[in-house]
Amino acid sequence: MALAHLLPKADAVVTDPPYGETSLDWDVWPDGWPDVAALVAPQVWCFGSMRMFLDKGHQFRAWKLAQDVVWEKHNGSNNANDRFRRLHELALHFYRGEWGALHKEPQFTNDATARTVRRKAQPQHWGDIGPSSYASEDGGPKLMGSVIYARSCHGYAVNETQKPEDIVAPLLQYSVPPGGLVVDCFAGSGTTGAVARKTGRRAILIEKREAQCRAIVNRLSQGDLLAANVRANAPGADGRLARAPDDRQPRARGQGGRPWRVAC
Ligand SMILES: C[S@@+](CC[C@H](N)C(=O)[O-])C[C@H]1O[C@@H](n2cnc3c(N)ncnc32)[C@H](O)[C@@H]1O
Repeated sequence: MALAHLLPKADAVVTDPPYGETSLDWDVWPDGWPDVAALVAPQVWCFGSMRMFLDKGHQFRAWKLAQDVVWEKHNGSNNANDRFRRLHELALHFYRGEWGALHKEPQFTNDATARTVRRKAQPQHWGDIGPSSYASEDGGPKLMGSVIYARSCHGYAVNETQKPEDIVAPLLQYSVPPGGLVVDCFAGSGTTGAVARKTGRRAILIEKREAQCRAIVNRLSQGDLLAANVRANAPGADGRLARAPDDRQPRARGQGGRPWRVAC
């Protein structure tokens, strides 16, 4: 992070820091990193838990909160039998400067039901939120919901807290234009880099553990073969979210149960 001032300006930081909640030796929150991220990009997506954000939230003082997304997992990660089984994590979106000046590409799923929606009055607690009515048609595009289901990486993870590509992809595509640059300062196994490449973005990945750096190199060096194979069969070969063939794939919650995944 000390070298962050040497980095080129990026469109966004998309990162998954150490939450500081386990006994893993690397799981230590590096104080001050959100200030460093503010030198690099005008927006940041940061994974974390509610406990982490309550504890470290003051370190985001350089940032304004834009929105929060919930990653709904298919299985939990804690074993405490006296609490609710924890099946989710958060990703908070922060920005600096003018909201209107940011690159934003709302994400959609193609599972709308036909209707015309009219807003009666502009809610006072929002600024300009766009047109006051819109029509949708069956199977047409619908704004992706903020609760996004994606299967955890159990069985193939090479990082202890690896994020699935399907939860990183909508965040990255929202904030980074095609050809744009994303920085991940806690890269782990390189999920952000893998998603960037599959969706036509560029990425700078920073990771302190050498074994994880090797895992990233291995993962990305295999990417071309995997991507070429999947691309041949993918319906959405433009790097956007594509319809998945079965219901075991991730989907935005409450959107007709239709599954979505990253097209490679
Ligand atoms: C939560 S994991 C990221 C997992 C990643 N999202 C993935 O899908 O594989 C956080 C990573 O940050 C790394 N890390 C911890 N402290 C760091 C630091 N000061 N600088 C760079 N990386 C660090 C850890 O080694 C760990 O791999």
